[in-house]
Order: sequence, then C-alpha cells, then structure tokens
Amino acid sequence: MTTIPETGKAIELINYDGIETSIRVGQRKISPLKESDVLVKIAASSINPSDLMFIRGLYGIKKKIPCGGGFEGSGTIVAVGSAVTKVKVGDRVACSAHYMGDGSWAEYMVTPEYNCIPLIDKVTLEQGATFFVNPLTACGLTNIAIKEKRNGIVQTAAASALGKMIQRYAKRKGLPVINIVRKDEQVDLLKSLGSEHVLNSTSPDFEKTFTRLVKKLEITYAIDAVAGKTGEDVYNMMPTNSKMVVYGALSEEPIGVTAGSLIFQRKKVEGFWLSYWIADTPPDEFTAIVQDAQENLSTDFKSEINKRFSLDDGFKAIDFYKNNMTSGKVLFVP
Ligand SMILES: NC(=O)c1ccc[n+]([C@@H]2O[C@H](COP(=O)([O-])OP(=O)(O)OC[C@H]3O[C@@H](n4cnc5c(N)ncnc54)[C@H](OP(=O)(O)O)[C@@H]3O)[C@@H](O)[C@H]2O)c1
Repeated sequence: MTTIPETGKAIELINYDGIETSIRVGQRKISPLKESDVLVKIAASSINPSDLMFIRGLYGIKKKIPCGGGFEGSGTIVAVGSAVTKVKVGDRVACSAHYMGDGSWAEYMVTPEYNCIPLIDKVTLEQGATFFVNPLTACGLTNIAIKEKRNGIVQTAAASALGKMIQRYAKRKGLPVINIVRKDEQVDLLKSLGSEHVLNSTSPDFEKTFTRLVKKLEITYAIDAVAGKTGEDVYNMMPTNSKMVVYGALSEEPIGVTAGSLIFQRKKVEGFWLSYWIADTPPDEFTAIVQDAQENLSTDFKSEINKRFSLDDGFKAIDFYKNNMTSGKVLFVP
C-alpha cells in the first residue's frame, strides 16, 4: 500500500498582488484524495503567462488564499481515489491543477484524474511539464482555421512558445501564417527558425506591409494574445468577413471594436480558453489531438527550456521568467 505523505514543499500565494513577499515557499498539507482524485509526485512544473496574471489576481479564476501556485506540470501518480479508472499508480502523466485545488509548483499535487494525460514512452517527464497548456491550445486555435476552411492564420506575439508551435503545426497542415512581433530581434529569430512572413508591429511600414500581405494571402482568421492597441490594430486591418480569436491579454489592456466593423464588414471577435475548449471537444477528437501532440512534442510542439529552478527559488524564478519570456520556458524542478 502506498503511503501518502502528510505534507510536501510547495510555493504558496498569500496575497494577489504578485510581489515577492506574497509568494512563500514552505511545507503545505497534502489535500485529502476525493474519490476521483489522484496524487501526483511532481517531476517538473512550468511558469506561463497565465500564472503571472493569476498571482496578481488578474486571471479568470481566483483560489482561496493561501493557495498553491502553478497550473501545469508532470509527474508520477503515487495514489488514486476509490473511483479512479483511467489512470493508475505508477503512470507518468502531464497534469493540470484543479481550478480550486492544489497548484503544480509543488512536490505533490492532488488533482482530478481527468486533469491527467498519461505520457507515451518517448515523452520525457520534463517535456510533459509543458504538454498541457500550449500544445493543446496551439491545436485548438489552428483547428479552428482548418474547420472553417480559412486560408491561413495571422498571429500576434508570434515569438512566444505557443506562437512557434502554431507556425510549425500550421505549416504541417498547409496553412500560411503571418507572424506579428514587436521587436526586430524577434523578426530575426523567427526568420532563422524558417518563418516566411514576420512583421514588426512597431515598424513605420507595418500597416502598409500587413494590409498588402493579408490581402494577397486572402487570410481572414487572426489569433491575438496581446489585446490592447496591437489587437485592435490587427483586427481593424483584417479584411471583411474576418474572425479574430482573442486568447491572451499580454498588454493587460482592453480591446475595442467598432460596431461598424461587426455590422458592415461582418467581422467577428471571439474568446478562447483551453478549459472550455477541452470541455467542448468531442472525446474522440480530443484523444486524437492528444495523441498527435505527444507524437510531435519534440518537433511541432516543442518548448525550449531556458532555465530550471528549485522550488526554494520561488519568486526569483517567476521574476526571471517575466523578464525573459521569449528565451524559453522556466521550470520548477522539485
Ligand atoms: N486562452 C488560453 O487558453 C491560453 C492557453 C495557453 C496560452 N495562452 C496565452 O498564449 C500567450 C503565449 O503564451 P506562451 O506561454 O507561449 O508565452 P511565452 O512563451 O512566455 O512568450 C510570451 C511572448 O509574448 C511577448 N509579449 C509579452 N508581452 C507583450 C506585449 N505587451 N505585446 C506584445 N508581445 C508581448 C513576449 O515578448 P517580449 O520578449 O517582447 O516580452 C514573448 O515573446 C499568452 O498570452 C498566454 O496567456 C492562452
């Protein structure tokens, strides 16, 4: 019989203001297992833009504080609740945190079994730590273009880990991508990785170049992770009948659209949240996507790992990630 530890080291949030003194590292009581829960011994957990918003109280959910931080990770299942059927003790899994439960920046995380995806043999636990959030979102956003028979994708924040995944996955699916970034070095980076269309939104000829290119490629689908002025500008420059899906708010600014664009240009704006997409995707389709994403996790859906930190580093690791986002993911390795 597996012995469940009583406590484990974890990074806890004690206030929603994102400052150093509100992030503490200590022993946290391991939550009791409900019948559909599993206990995961965490091998690695990642830091994402959603975490930066969560710790400042700006994300779509708020847990009761003190609460554990981190939404995704990977590890080995060490205990299961009485009604668990799809995973078992010893399984290596990619896992996400329950929206009201433990966080993944910890030695142990209790989460429902449906938040665990068993890893295939060729996927390492470290790769599994970045499997849940970005690869599945890249698939979800690209598959909208495929299902709606759009001719390609326009994307903002294209030098992000997710942006790079979309470029590679869309290329495999035969869709051109217009990549928008905000710095010249990001243009150089994406070009060196093989991207054909990369535009800097801060360059003086951006509007002219973008408008000409989007028209030439007949693209009517944009995905935006920035919101604010960047999102608005791209939306306004998209042709009639375009749809823009907003899936991030890196600028932390609101996004405005004119009534005229919705009425006379028949444009659409929608939101995308991975949690809703998983719930809305038919199980067979979801299983096929998960299989494909795992098979291609070291190619199309690869995340570069910039740096690994111990849990004791807490705020230091979060701050490092915040200042080096384009350079790759930051992992906590308990
Ligand atoms: N809705 C969902 O379900 C869902 C799921 C997954 C991810 N996401 C979103 O996807 C986006 C990318 O995530 P990721 O993990 O791939 O990010 P990441 O690898 O950490 O990269 C973030 C990128 O965004 C850029 N950036 C930051 N602030 C910006 C701003 N104000 N304007 C323009 N660019 C900015 C950074 O460039 P600099 O170096 O110039 O700062 C960096 O290249 C995030 O917005 C995240 O929240 C959403």
